[in-house]
Amino acid sequence: MIVVTAAGGRTGTAVVRALRARGDDVRALVSSPRRRPELAALGAEVLPADLGDPATAEPLLAAADALYLIWPNFAPGEAEGAAALFAAARRAGVPRVVYHSVLRPQARAMPHHAAKDSAEEALDASGLAWRVLQPCAYADNLDGQVAGVAATGVFRAPWGLAQPQSLVDLRDVAEAAVVLLTRNGLDGGTFEAVGPRPLTAPEIAAELSAWLGREVSAVDVVPDGPVPPATDYSAHCRRRMFDHYRAHGFAGSPRVLEALLGRPARTLRDHLAALPVPVPDPAGPLP
Ligand SMILES: NC(=O)c1ccc[n+]([C@@H]2O[C@H](COP(=O)([O-])OP(=O)(O)OC[C@H]3O[C@@H](n4cnc5c(N)ncnc54)[C@H](OP(=O)(O)O)[C@@H]3O)[C@@H](O)[C@H]2O)c1
Repeated sequence: MIVVTAAGGRTGTAVVRALRARGDDVRALVSSPRRRPELAALGAEVLPADLGDPATAEPLLAAADALYLIWPNFAPGEAEGAAALFAAARRAGVPRVVYHSVLRPQARAMPHHAAKDSAEEALDASGLAWRVLQPCAYADNLDGQVAGVAATGVFRAPWGLAQPQSLVDLRDVAEAAVVLLTRNGLDGGTFEAVGPRPLTAPEIAAELSAWLGREVSAVDVVPDGPVPPATDYSAHCRRRMFDHYRAHGFAGSPRVLEALLGRPARTLRDHLAALPVPVPDPAGPLP
């Protein structure tokens, strides 16, 4: 049985889906006891555990063959919380832990990256048998925008128009996670999960244009006002992230991901082809 944390989120549900597709038993940890039809339909055992209180998760790790530790996106406390969960996994005797990190955790300008860097350090010192997955930004981050793009022909890029991102399909990330959870001989390895090609916002707009069959322009949406205070952790991290992407991009090599998967990484075109093409809303804004 494999335990997946933050299983109600996008990444967690994708990893549960990929594990269940192989027939692995999955214990999906969620934040509250409300019903989780999607996870239940996948055939996962769904249990509540507050990641901010590792004592609630520790009993649920007993008898696990592996733990996939995802910390909720832009949530504070990751460095300490992940370290506490690694210690709990050690006490529970979990034989394999895979930590869901991020590409370039050492980029300290982004606090949610720096937190993952600390967590990786704690994992290495934990005495566990571990593996780390470091994904780039997901192509799936664009999904919430496609209906608006279809209606307006405008693709909004808060990271500017010049610097690229090597967007990775979340299905590839989940399949790589499954490899790390189930294949022997990978202990102590840190694996990047990066999409096949760095793309600037205008290049992404061109892909959206080809997919939608209409003109699409990328527009630089410069974040407004000062950086939100660190006490507003999620907004603070988002802003620091977009500022960093604007200055440096977020790109890398697909080589490691492709070695894990044994095939080419999915392209943005592959990603878009799997989405339903948005139907224009006749009451929506004019193109
Ligand atoms: N998005 C990207 O492009 C990207 C790229 C690389 C790495 N990552 C990393 O991937 C991780 C997951 O990102 P995501 O976008 O999949 O996250 P997400 O969709 O925001 O999901 C996080 C989930 O965490 C759960 N959660 C929140 N607080 C909790 C708590 N106290 N205890 C237990 N569960 C709690 C929530 O699930 P419930 O439904 O149970 O409330 C939420 O759905 C993050 O660490 C992020 O940095 C993301």
